[in-house]
Amino acid sequence: MKILFIGDIVGKAGRAAVYARLGLLKKEYNIDFTIVNGENIAHGKGITEKLYNELIEKGIDAITLGNHAYSKADVLNFINHSKSLIRPINMYPNEFGCGVRDFYVKGKTIRIINLIGSVFMDKVIESPFDSMKKLHKTNSDKIVIVDLHAEATSEKMAFAYQFKNECSAVIGTHTHVQTADEQIIDGCAFISDVGMSGSFKSIIGRDIDEVLEKFNGNSITRFTVSENAAQVCAVVIDIDDKSLRATSIKRLQFRPESY
Ligand code: FE2
Repeated sequence: MKILFIGDIVGKAGRAAVYARLGLLKKEYNIDFTIVNGENIAHGKGITEKLYNELIEKGIDAITLGNHAYSKADVLNFINHSKSLIRPINMYPNEFGCGVRDFYVKGKTIRIINLIGSVFMDKVIESPFDSMKKLHKTNSDKIVIVDLHAEATSEKMAFAYQFKNECSAVIGTHTHVQTADEQIIDGCAFISDVGMSGSFKSIIGRDIDEVLEKFNGNSITRFTVSENAAQVCAVVIDIDDKSLRATSIKRLQFRPESY
């Protein structure tokens, strides 16, 4: 089973870059199932029903979220009946939508779990470690992919080591900066952060000048989403059909032609 996981799509520029590459990527790597993190897809924060439907129409199979899951109020209109949307299971509010979803592909069950980290993150109900322990017993006989949406690389790596036997892959999201630590940990594919699909000439997807204002003492709290040409960051994970364990993880990063 070949799984494509595309990192946090940020705004219009990120969407355009992902849509332009998606068909070619799926073909080149013989992809069976595609996951994206969509928590920044609607103008940098949150997701709308229109964009959720657009992702599905473009051929995305599962969409994970993060700390901005509820940033657009529109999400409450469709999160309960969207079959492919997964929000962090351990984040407030947790009465809407679903944090664990099963998908059936080529005779196998792919279970997607979305968790938020507890280090430097808001709205955390319980540690992702405690949440994952509760899911232990129901995970055998499935391909289990975790999107751990977290700030700290140490937390993400520690999680992978603790749950490597229960997970086929632990993929970090949220920082928007791709890490070069992809590896297979005893059959569990891991990367601390897959990176963002968004404007390359930006500061993690936002306008450079505005972010500089903030770091120079001015009280800017809202940042414009950069519309410069976007990079696409992703990983391709190969899962053995018999053992349901990962055999390889390939890190991909496509920068715009001129930047
Ligand atoms: Fe995030």
